[in-house]
Amino acid sequence: MNPFRYGKTVPLEFQCPQPALERTLLGHLRSGQNVLMQGDRRMGKSSFLTHALAPKFGRRVYKVDFSAVKSVDAIVRKMIWALEQFENSANLLNRARKGASRATPAISVGGLSLSFDPARPLAAARIEEVLTALGEGGRRHPILCIFDEFQDILRLPPNDAEAVLAQMRSVIQHQTDVPYIFAGSNRNRMHGIFNHPASPFFKSAATVEFGPIPIEAFTAWITARFSDGGRKLPAPIAARIFEATQRVSGDVQQLCSALWNVSSARETLGDAHLDAAIDLILGEESKTNELIWAELSERQASCLQVLAANPLLPPAGADFARLSGIHSASTVTRSLDSMTDRGLLFKQEGRYSFFTPFFRMWVHRKLDLPPVPQLPEPHTYEPDSADPARAEEPAASYLTGSRQRTRSLRGGRPIRSPLG
Ligand SMILES: Nc1ncnc2c1ncn2[C@@H]1O[C@H](COP(=O)(O)OP(=O)(O)OP(=O)(O)O)[C@@H](O)[C@H]1O
Ligand SMILES: [Mg+2]
Repeated sequence: MNPFRYGKTVPLEFQCPQPALERTLLGHLRSGQNVLMQGDRRMGKSSFLTHALAPKFGRRVYKVDFSAVKSVDAIVRKMIWALEQFENSANLLNRARKGASRATPAISVGGLSLSFDPARPLAAARIEEVLTALGEGGRRHPILCIFDEFQDILRLPPNDAEAVLAQMRSVIQHQTDVPYIFAGSNRNRMHGIFNHPASPFFKSAATVEFGPIPIEAFTAWITARFSDGGRKLPAPIAARIFEATQRVSGDVQQLCSALWNVSSARETLGDAHLDAAIDLILGEESKTNELIWAELSERQASCLQVLAANPLLPPAGADFARLSGIHSASTVTRSLDSMTDRGLLFKQEGRYSFFTPFFRMWVHRKLDLPPVPQLPEPHTYEPDSADPARAEEPAASYLTGSRQRTRSLRGGRPIRSPLG
């Protein structure tokens, strides 16, 4: 059986252990400290929280995933429905049901499943009732609360987002016996919620960074899994895997899974296997990628092409605009921002990266671009005017992050373009 799994939350047996992170988190939780946990997409946050941390903490978990929420109503429903995940939670549900039913007379209750009249949206005020009921239940059966993709609350119109956060905060701040973990993958938005003085959550949680798994431990883990299946993974091939994937856990496992599929027991893995594994992934993803490509405007496609060949080139600089044949840097950043909004790119400290390394490789191969220069380790990009205080500087509004966006687009350290 292929020992690698990707694309969703994975159980403990598919996770490289992270004892240091566990110790840090458990220390915070045991002292009743709420935690802000931020890390990039596919790093393994949800898997770690659900399958590694929560069982060690030994409490029942109340988990709400706020990804892609579009309305206050959706948030309140998600929070109420999450109560279903509890074992022995009949009492809790009764309390929550009472609160919800006052807002939605058409509520139908049967067993543990709750349904609401879609014509009657639930208001932010219900959040207080849900969390209060939860807190009361927590006094009898200790609870750990995990709010995943918490930053997506900021996708709501600013007034709605503020109302939701204010409601949450008004209860959470008094729940000294219920630890909360707020996990998120969008640094700007999470930073805004927890570090902007105007935010109800200002400085309300200890920050824990969910970075890549330490390379020695990750290397030993994948090597052992290949070895259990009779395959030898030499260190240089392991290094190439991590270089290609930037140690993003989900991408590492996707590449390892493909490597497993193109090899057999008693083989020593080499460059040819790795190339075949990448071919396999690009082949599997090509249909989807072609569809994505077909929907791009000419301008977007040329920006993507320049980015694929020049990942270190500052996007707001004149070189980027010249290479992409676009007259102004602001047009380039608008194109890149729109692809970020569509989830094709992500943006960190003014730099854009492809959402997955395999999409970048696909663009590269499709367009027959020159070789990509080696990428830096994640999080090592230094803006030109390195100012340690800058990261702490509040945006004009934590709800829109407007100042942060403008500032973060200032140039970075110039590099020579391989195309120029
Ligand atoms: N501890 C781990 N060791 C190795 N690989 C892992 C580990 N945890 C997760 N992964 C890999 O990462 C993938 C993504 O995991 P998960 O969904 O938990 O990440 P996430 O950070 O919550 O992602 P997202 O931000 O997209 O929700 C998994 O499918 C798995 O392949
Ligand atoms: Mg997740």
